[in-house]
Amino acid sequence: MHMIAKLALGTAFLALAAGGADAATATRAPFGQLSDGTKIEAVTLTNGHGMTAKIMTLGATLQSLVVPDKAGNKADITLGYDSAQEYLSHPDYFGASVGRYANRIAKGKFTLDGKTYTLATNDGPNSLHGGLRGFDKRMWKIDSVTSGPDAKVVLSYVSADGEEGFPGQLKVTATYALDENNELRLEYKATTSKPTVLNLTNHSYFNLSGNDARDVMGDMVTLHAARFTPVGATLIPTGERRAVAGTPFDFRTPHRVGDRIRDGRDQQIRYGRGYDHNFIVDGKAGTLRPAAVVEDPVSGRVMEISVTAPGIQFYTGNFLDGTFVGKNSRAYRQGDAICLEPGVFPDSPNHPDFPTSRLNPGQTYTNTIVYKFSTK
Ligand code: GLA
Repeated sequence: MHMIAKLALGTAFLALAAGGADAATATRAPFGQLSDGTKIEAVTLTNGHGMTAKIMTLGATLQSLVVPDKAGNKADITLGYDSAQEYLSHPDYFGASVGRYANRIAKGKFTLDGKTYTLATNDGPNSLHGGLRGFDKRMWKIDSVTSGPDAKVVLSYVSADGEEGFPGQLKVTATYALDENNELRLEYKATTSKPTVLNLTNHSYFNLSGNDARDVMGDMVTLHAARFTPVGATLIPTGERRAVAGTPFDFRTPHRVGDRIRDGRDQQIRYGRGYDHNFIVDGKAGTLRPAAVVEDPVSGRVMEISVTAPGIQFYTGNFLDGTFVGKNSRAYRQGDAICLEPGVFPDSPNHPDFPTSRLNPGQTYTNTIVYKFSTK
């Protein structure tokens, strides 16, 4: 949380060093409207190396991310929809900014300073991803749009005191920046008027095969995590921090996603219907450090994710059942994407020994995620 000044300086320096003549550009344009007439806008960030990132005002959502493969062919490597309304009609959090509390809070209840708060339960007995109308379903404001050396958009949202049952007025910004090193940098910040809990993250579904539309079972994944937080049947952490060694959760060296995803001997795999677990990122939370690498051996695309957060949820699209049709008329099925959602651990408000999700007035919350793309 407190490394922000140093990180910002680091980025400015890197951007200057790499920028120069081929500065990335940011353009703002209408992106249709919702069925109630609400107008949506999108900002497209483009760099000189064939990458574009499109971010829309509904949910501060990464609506598309175009990345070249090893032959230079460009393709959108994220799941999503062509129109904003579909994101509301079929909420799978595709590319969305999720809050106030990404992931689950057990039984939709937590206690803060002796007072119990009750949230809507929208995932079996639990509260998921901020409740009935979380940040993914809210209209964000575009605060600024700037071109190079990194192209940048800042979006903001003010969440009223008591919204979805959470205390405190929360002022949130999401900054997306694309540079000439093929790094997309995303930074969430928030301040509050009263003590509260929060967990902001981005819920992009990545499929590095792009237009080839293969599933992700052949992707090679590395997770820099020696431990993960096992869950019970409704995907709430038990509180244990379990070593990954000797389990299907050991991704410390690259493994194919599909190799162990059907290992029914492992109860955690059964509970998650595959991978849907929080990994404890090695190293010191609050400092930007490598968390995950995803490689598609066919297209050659490689994505490296660095995070400041203590944890990262690794989810393999287990709930996609083929009923929703997204971009390129593609029906999305189980195993069609990888989500890597950096944040605090699930259900932290009910686990005093987990890294804290608490924010006090006067503090600034930050969660920084860097997605770096290359080919191999
Ligand atoms: C997160 C959760 C999953 C699922 C998706 C959204 O990744 O951990 O269980 O709810 O969001 O479908």
